[in-house]
Amino acid sequence: MESLNNYLFKYKGYVFAKGETTGEYIDSLQHFEIRDSDIFLVTYPKSGTIWTQNIINLICEDATDQTKFPNNLEKMPWLEYREGRPDYSLRPSPRLFATHLTPTLMPPGLRDKRGKIVYVLRNPKDNAVSYYHFSLVWAKLETPKSFEDFLQQYLAGNVGGSSWFDHVREWYSKRDQYSILFLSYEDMVMDLRTAVEKICKFLEKNLDDAAIAHIVEKATFRNMKKDPRANYEFIPGDLLLKPQFMRKGTVGDWKNTFTVAQNEMFDQIFEERMKNVPLHFIWDFD
Ligand code: A3P
Repeated sequence: MESLNNYLFKYKGYVFAKGETTGEYIDSLQHFEIRDSDIFLVTYPKSGTIWTQNIINLICEDATDQTKFPNNLEKMPWLEYREGRPDYSLRPSPRLFATHLTPTLMPPGLRDKRGKIVYVLRNPKDNAVSYYHFSLVWAKLETPKSFEDFLQQYLAGNVGGSSWFDHVREWYSKRDQYSILFLSYEDMVMDLRTAVEKICKFLEKNLDDAAIAHIVEKATFRNMKKDPRANYEFIPGDLLLKPQFMRKGTVGDWKNTFTVAQNEMFDQIFEERMKNVPLHFIWDFD
């Protein structure tokens, strides 16, 4: 285990938040028993996790959820950060988990195409800007001195979740081993209804038109921001200095932050590191 700073440590090549998990717990995931009904939401941080979490939770909602779970986080907790919750093996099926882990650290049972994975990716320029703003308000992250300072750490993979490039490449290159649906944040912004329908189909949930319309309505940025079960304002103020999980929710915000030089450098790195990954990214809607 290698300490990166006061807030982050590296274990098996991956960067975790200090005090939230341990190497021992991460190792225990190698023996985590997968159930066919398990659903995992996998993302690199700041790629639309809580948005998709809300959508999957709504798709899988049953009549007792509101009383059983105070909010989306308790219905779909983080796999790697158990944070005092009872052993996940005690949770009734169907279990829902969110995670930022890479394939090697995930329970190996998933590789037999047991359980389902929804993977959401976001263009890394908007992702980096979103992550920068998050670092300014999340008490357990080092406050970046500037966007440039943050960008260097981001490109080096010295941020929670490690390298965006490795995360996306690794999951994409291993996709055949899993029952996995890839979605992009940009596609979700562009056409939320189609994204919800795709997730329903993948999860084999046969919802009627009205139920889908209801989920789409609840998952719009405006409505979700007002929803106390979904907007993450339930996170205590000493951890989240400003309630900013739902900041802007747009595509192309990077243009307001990146300098021309930063953009050129980023494009070059992106091209080198993603050259064998045939994924299409939407950088803006112009
Ligand atoms: P911005 O910081 O660019 O606004 P994560 O959940 O992985 O931490 O990702 C957070 C990002 O998702 C934030 O991006 C947030 O605004 C955006 N987001 C959350 N809910 C959303 C929604 N309903 N519609 C669009 N974007 C949403």
